Amino acid sequence: MSQPIGVFDSGYGGLTVLKELVARLPQYDYTYLGDNARSPYGTRSFETVYHYTLECVQWLFRQGCPLVVLACNTASAKALRTIQQNDLPRMAPDNRVLGVIRPTTEVVGKFTRTGKIGILATRGTVSSGSYPIEIEKFFPEVTVFQQACPLWVPLVENNEHDKPGADYFVKEYMDQLRAQSSDIDTVLLACTHYPLMRDKIARHLPKGSQLIVQGEIVAESLADYLLRHPEMESRCSKNGHLRFFTTDSTEDFDAHASIFYGKPLQSEHIILS
Ligand code: DGL
Repeated sequence: MSQPIGVFDSGYGGLTVLKELVARLPQYDYTYLGDNARSPYGTRSFETVYHYTLECVQWLFRQGCPLVVLACNTASAKALRTIQQNDLPRMAPDNRVLGVIRPTTEVVGKFTRTGKIGILATRGTVSSGSYPIEIEKFFPEVTVFQQACPLWVPLVENNEHDKPGADYFVKEYMDQLRAQSSDIDTVLLACTHYPLMRDKIARHLPKGSQLIVQGEIVAESLADYLLRHPEMESRCSKNGHLRFFTTDSTEDFDAHASIFYGKPLQSEHIILS
């Protein structure tokens, strides 16, 4: 029986992570679920993001996934802990759900020389405080400056991110980040949708600073996790098969998803609950 690694995002953004997982760990099977019908999550309440994420995780478990990666910062910030602590023990005690915030915060402090890091994320991720809280644990000497960029996900989901109209909102949020400190030398894209706007964002970076993208960091961390957990590694099937599911239109998904994934793909439709 196929036991793929489940990869979840509110929409397309997690495909930027999946692409790196497949590049780093091509032997495994993966099942991707994008909850496009209810995206974006970034502006929704804790309860809503938790409820939606839990439904998607349960669906991935029913597909045979022993391990699910929440390739979405908003879901990782707002739902992961409750799922790990309250739901997993009674629902599927042998399965695991991992997020993208912990692996990122474990390493991001290594990139800064000034000790000042800028975080670009959805409103939900920013208001959760997850990044400053987690970075403080690993790099107590680092100061974190957060900037919510609520219009970037809608621009990306609507394929407007490359158009000149997007420039205004990129400049706007980057100006607000730069106004928080003149010493920021490391800027993290803490939303899996933002790598698509990377070039535009790079034009507004604080002078001499570097832009950090999560995909490769998460892939490296998953490789390490599987090495440290042979009981889980042996449960993940290894045929190099990929399946893609969306809660919205498959035509839209297939037309749009290749921009994120880098290759054409074909999705299947599901209805949740
Ligand atoms: N891609 C998700 C993240 O990393 C957010 C997208 C959304 O707002 O739904 O935060």
